[in-house]
Amino acid sequence: MTAVHGPPGTGAPRKVLLDCDPGHDDAFAITLAAGSPAIELVAITTVAGNQTVDKTTRNACVMCTLLGLADTPVVAGCEGPLIRALRTAPEFHGPSGLDGPRPVEPRVVPTPGHAVDRIVDTVLASPGEITLVATGPLTNVAMALRKAPAIAGAVREVVIMGGSYSRGNVTPAAEFNIYVDPEAARVVFEAPWRLTMMGLDLTHQATFTDVEERRLEQIGTTLSRFLIDLMRYFKNAYRSAAGMEDPPVHDPCAVAYVIDPTLFEVAGAHVEVETNGLWASGMTVTDFKAAGPGPGRVDVGTELDRPGFWDLVISAVERIGEVPVSTSPTGGVEP
Ligand code: RIB
Ligand code: CA
Repeated sequence: MTAVHGPPGTGAPRKVLLDCDPGHDDAFAITLAAGSPAIELVAITTVAGNQTVDKTTRNACVMCTLLGLADTPVVAGCEGPLIRALRTAPEFHGPSGLDGPRPVEPRVVPTPGHAVDRIVDTVLASPGEITLVATGPLTNVAMALRKAPAIAGAVREVVIMGGSYSRGNVTPAAEFNIYVDPEAARVVFEAPWRLTMMGLDLTHQATFTDVEERRLEQIGTTLSRFLIDLMRYFKNAYRSAAGMEDPPVHDPCAVAYVIDPTLFEVAGAHVEVETNGLWASGMTVTDFKAAGPGPGRVDVGTELDRPGFWDLVISAVERIGEVPVSTSPTGGVEP
């Protein structure tokens, strides 16, 4: 099954299932998916990663509350990696996984069921229509493949934020989403489906600077102010934990690729996920000279049209507008 890409406006909205671990940058991915006319967000599934799955699920519900997504199911998923112990990222996302803004009491509650079943059922119910975007560890996606291998032939395409063809961000070799669950990543990369990897080499081009903060300030909504507060926290975290002046907003890159692939340069490669390395576990070993068809064949993002990317994100926030919320006496912000 080969995906048919085209710039925005070339057809019906793309049906997207977003598997994520919110997470500051996952919050932007959800926002972009919700605010783009080119996407129909059919479901959000959550996984343990940046924080435990109870927290990433609550955070997804918080974002749905702020975005006015009352009818998009949020379905919780795996509590930990396939084999290894869970490693979270409080140094970047805080104890809640969405630190920075004043707490928002979610009005959206999780939909009963499990993320793995939601992924399988959604994909198989609409053969060739669902684009699976994953912006956290790939545990849910791998489990879905194991439960129903037929999803590989039924999904339209898979776009992930994860990996790197140069350096990692947890170890010199491994990027966080792959590092947390390399066995799951190996299952996903070896599956016979169309896979695009937006790794750190691409997402580090998606930095959030004072210019983007001012653009959000000009929007002047509850959502834009929440996103600013998220990014102020993320900026401080990235400065202290990673020594980077401006934080890279990784996850919306995967969503933006679905919306407008012309904003990206991608190159074919063969990618193997290291699962046995003492020092390199979780490395996405990327060979651009072996881009032939078959398992492990991946399109890898290399260049980002940064202005065009941020125009997409800002336009999505503008399109969502003001979603009625109020400040509760408990200090939280309730709709
Ligand atoms: O390495 C960056 C990735 O790990 C992002 O998806 C971030 O949200 C974390 O999950
Ligand atoms: Ca993430």
